[in-house]
Amino acid sequence: IFLLQNDTDEECPTFTKLGFHNAVVGTGLNVKLILYTRKNPTCAQAINTTVFGNLNVTKKTTFVIHGFRPTGSRPIWMEDLVTGLLYVEDMNVIVVDWNRGATTVIYVHASEKTRDVAKVLKEFIDQMLVEGASLTDIYMIGVSLGAHISGFVGEMFDGKLGRITGLDPAGPLFNSKPPQDRLDPGDAQFVDVIHSDTDALGYKDPLGNIDFYPNGGLDQPGCPKTIFGGMQYFKCDHQRSVYLYLSSLRENCSITTYPCDSYQDYRDGKCVSCGTPPKDSCPLLGYYADHWKDFLKENYPPMTKAFFDTAEEKPYCIYHYLVDIITWNKNVRRGSITIKLKDKAGNTTESKIDHRPATFQKYHQVSLLARFNQDLDKVAAISLVFSTGTVIGPKYKLRILRMKLRSLAHPERPQLCRYDLVLKENVETVFRPIHCPKLQM
Ligand SMILES: *[C@@H]1O[C@H](CO)[C@@H](O)[C@H](O)[C@H]1NC(C)=O
Ligand SMILES: *[C@@H]1O[C@H](CO)[C@@H](O)[C@H](O)[C@H]1NC(C)=O
Ligand SMILES: *[C@@H]1O[C@H](CO)[C@@H](O)[C@H](O)[C@H]1NC(C)=O
Ligand SMILES: *[C@@H]1O[C@H](CO)[C@@H](O)[C@H](O)[C@H]1NC(C)=O
Repeated sequence: IFLLQNDTDEECPTFTKLGFHNAVVGTGLNVKLILYTRKNPTCAQAINTTVFGNLNVTKKTTFVIHGFRPTGSRPIWMEDLVTGLLYVEDMNVIVVDWNRGATTVIYVHASEKTRDVAKVLKEFIDQMLVEGASLTDIYMIGVSLGAHISGFVGEMFDGKLGRITGLDPAGPLFNSKPPQDRLDPGDAQFVDVIHSDTDALGYKDPLGNIDFYPNGGLDQPGCPKTIFGGMQYFKCDHQRSVYLYLSSLRENCSITTYPCDSYQDYRDGKCVSCGTPPKDSCPLLGYYADHWKDFLKENYPPMTKAFFDTAEEKPYCIYHYLVDIITWNKNVRRGSITIKLKDKAGNTTESKIDHRPATFQKYHQVSLLARFNQDLDKVAAISLVFSTGTVIGPKYKLRILRMKLRSLAHPERPQLCRYDLVLKENVETVFRPIHCPKLQM
């Protein structure tokens, strides 16, 4: 509730609250810097180039920069983001409140002010440097238009800021612009970007050292698919990038991502390992993505796309497994597999692998990527359903020589096997798996 205090309360300045009236009339730019630290986690301080408050320049400083505000309201995620950042690290968190400027029903008016916001931040950071700060300790999290603002600031410091995270950087008016007119990988020592709405409000192409595309970057699960979803229809996909980032600060599930050329290849299970030294695990999304910085910057060009799927709700993470299947049908069989896992306590979780039919050929191993909402540690039973998707016509059988299930998130867990199994089409077959023999990798 700390951001929701009365604007007239001089003790604790808060984010500017405007209304729809302001949006219609339009607002002139006024940038406020609001500081939170572990000394004042709930009561902010207004700071500027002459008044630094609790800002300790020897610590990391994270700027949080919002985007277009078509209704003038406060960003509802702001409080959680500030709290989450202070929870993970003892740092300065500066909320860049440019609500006067961002609030207008006309998007182009807000986007035209981004350079001016960047200039205000440049001036402030210059003063921080005078006070002894280091550019490496400066981190900017920019949402939508805020991502490009971060890029403009970064460019003014020749890419020497420590890090910029772009959360669904704005697409309209920025798509296909040259690097100096948008966020780009040269704007900081490390630039990571989450793209969650590439077909509407977000930016389509890669902009950072690593670009994360949740669920392919287009439509996010759990978001309304039609206009009957109201305002959520417009902003849910876009905002999801912020919630995914937040879950890296708060939740227990860390979201593992898979560097890959395309979402299709990821879904096809072609990009499941990141075994290249020195990193033997795939990059995590969110706050800790910078652990992969050196590794990612070795690529030429230093830009990597990473894909992953998410659940519909908090904490969003899903658990990836590979299902390796060897069949011995004489004829090629095409179809989808649904796999269900059950543990001793009776928890079940299901994955449908049906984004496109898998092709089973005699004695060839097919590796399918299965995605589960729950991570069942001790699997007591597995069920499989094979389906060709046809309603009429003959029912097929899939003759399985061996199936193997292995967790990508926990490769150290025993791999589960089952031999000699016949799946009748559309009939659930339940069995108890055994640990695969050690030799058989
Ligand atoms: C900085 O903030 C202080 C206190 O809010 C105010 O008195 C001062 O005029 C501000 N300085 C500038 C340069 O805006
Ligand atoms: C500023 O932070 C440094 C490093 O965390 C600490 O040693 C120092 O005491 C802090 N200064 C103040 C005034 O709190
Ligand atoms: C995260 O998991 C650890 C142990 O696995 C547990 O102690 C802790 O309470 C969990 N935290 C949250 C926020 O769920
Ligand atoms: C399994 O079920 C039990 C009891 O219903 C529950 O406490 C536990 O959290 C579940 N485990 C998982 C991994 O969901």
